Amino acid sequence: MKILVLGSGAREHAIINCLLRDSTAHEIVAAPGNAGIAQVVEVVAMDPTEGDVVTEYAREQGIELVIIGPEAPLVAGVADVLRQAGVPVFGPDKAAAALEGSKDFAKEIMEAAGVPTGRARSASTMAEVDAALDEFGAPYVVKADGLAAGKGVIVTIDRDAARDHAEFYIHQGSVLIEEFLEGQEVSLFVLSDGDAVVPLSPAQDYKRVFDGDEGPNTGGMGAYSPLPWLPEGFVDEVVETVAQPTIREMSRRGTPFVGLLYCGLIVTEDGIRVIEFNARFGDPETQVVLERLDSSLANLLLATAQGRLASVPEPQFSNDVAVTVVLASEGYPESPETGRAITGLADALAVPGVSIAHAATAVSDGGFVSTGGRVLSVIASGSDFADARERVYSALGLISLDGAHYRNDIAERVA
Ligand code: AMP
Ligand code: GLY
Repeated sequence: MKILVLGSGAREHAIINCLLRDSTAHEIVAAPGNAGIAQVVEVVAMDPTEGDVVTEYAREQGIELVIIGPEAPLVAGVADVLRQAGVPVFGPDKAAAALEGSKDFAKEIMEAAGVPTGRARSASTMAEVDAALDEFGAPYVVKADGLAAGKGVIVTIDRDAARDHAEFYIHQGSVLIEEFLEGQEVSLFVLSDGDAVVPLSPAQDYKRVFDGDEGPNTGGMGAYSPLPWLPEGFVDEVVETVAQPTIREMSRRGTPFVGLLYCGLIVTEDGIRVIEFNARFGDPETQVVLERLDSSLANLLLATAQGRLASVPEPQFSNDVAVTVVLASEGYPESPETGRAITGLADALAVPGVSIAHAATAVSDGGFVSTGGRVLSVIASGSDFADARERVYSALGLISLDGAHYRNDIAERVA
């Protein structure tokens, strides 16, 4: 199949590596990709948020499936243009991507569909913010309404910090004040063609920058899959109480969701609660979920795009476990230092079961340099978590990047 992957992160690199593992060979192009992706497939310099440009390219090149990685093209309506032109596309239209693009909209859908989520108040003035902070009490949870690259949410016991965060984002639209939910977090990816709903294997992401969940929230510092501590029937329950009602509500409104619904959940004492929806694969969870996928990713995503999901065999996952750890630049997330040399990648890749997904790297003088905050993800599979952790951390120990940091406790609690 001729496949175009839009995006330039570690998620897209992991998607491409999974497509390349397929028993059928595919012709894959990435736009714009990154330096790591360029080592394995063709990359084209194209702005993935320009729907007309992407569609013209896809038609000229006879692309048979477009996979949209990040949220920005979805929210910009790139899938709409492709779909109208008859190009099979994995990723929701703009109207359905609002499940991620607007937290207010996501809450509205959850309410209409009866999906369990935290109580929340939308505030557009500081007086409303104060009233909501008082209503829910500490710890305070304040969320920017729109996309904020993982930085829009603050969870704090400091009322002034909660207010400051609200004041910063309220100028860009409304903010959401939510009740604090206590429990383990789970990311469950669910494929939907607008009607059928097919879950992948659950993963857990580590959002805070430092060990022991200290420091600010980030885009994600590491992940593991599966989650052996989940109760029996968990995935079915999420499908029945969260994914199916949401997908049905979107279709009922005439804005069917075609793509991947990322259910961000907290397992509280009172049951499962949704803390967020995303309209795309999560990063870094994709690195571990797809590492374990034995079925053909291309077939699953094409069936999703073409409305045939109910007729394809259920996705199969390896019994091996997977762990990924993100290597971050000095200063990430506040002010990452960039342009520094990265060495040791070949040695790291020589560790059994290890692969690397690049995110913010470039080639300079024949070697890799860092170009952003989350530089790359090291991924390891293993027969158990002790094994996978041993591999991922020995590989990381072989990589050098001045001032870099990573979490040492990914999957520690399950090993
Ligand atoms: P979000 O972008 O909505 O996933 O929020 C980022 C992170 O903030 C989540 O992964 C949680 O760790 C935390 N968080 C979000 N909402 C809540 C909540 N209602 N209660 C506790 N923690 C939350
Ligand atoms: N790992 C969180 C996200 O992709 O939004």
